[in-house]
Amino acid sequence: MATMDQLREKVLACTACKLAATRTNVVFGGGNSNARVLFIGEGPGQQEDLSGQPFVGRAGKLLDKMLDAVGLSRDESIFITNMVKCRPPGNRDPQPDEVSACMGYLYEQIRLMRPQYIVCLGRVAAQSLIDPDFRVTKQHGQFIEKDGILMMGTFHPAALLRNPNQKVDAFDDFCKLRDRLLENKAQL
Ligand code: URA
Ligand code: SF4
Repeated sequence: MATMDQLREKVLACTACKLAATRTNVVFGGGNSNARVLFIGEGPGQQEDLSGQPFVGRAGKLLDKMLDAVGLSRDESIFITNMVKCRPPGNRDPQPDEVSACMGYLYEQIRLMRPQYIVCLGRVAAQSLIDPDFRVTKQHGQFIEKDGILMMGTFHPAALLRNPNQKVDAFDDFCKLRDRLLENKAQL
């Protein structure tokens, strides 16, 4: 069986969809691949494309603050990746053919990591992984079990930058996650 590092090597060389032509770097994901929680965003933005690291731009800084506020360490408590590993030009939504070309890598990451919880950041991830009709404003913060993993969708931090009034609800979702993690083990 491949390891996460072997998978990373494979994905870094991928040219399976048209996003390969316009990317600077593939963004595989980062954090602790032995953590209990996997966060899944949409796709790399400009800063991520330039650095090869997930969530390092403005949205990433907000995410760091929210994680910090509930006692979760970005480096230790979670692993974080995206639906597509290469930047959609101009930060447009990834197209269905791009998501399906890349999806196999995400499933491999899930299989290798075996997280207890998956947090979908935003509509694109939540609709692909939880429910094709998922509505973030209505269903955020609900935990749904799928294949032995507890899945939750919440607001994308980039959406929170545009709509700061939703930060209260998003913070509440992060608190729920923290409480659940503490419930079934003493350690975050
Ligand atoms: N937005 C995302 O969805 N993913 C990133 O890595 C950065 C911003
Ligand atoms: Fe390959 Fe995914 Fe990048 Fe497309 S987005 S080239 S499938 S790694």
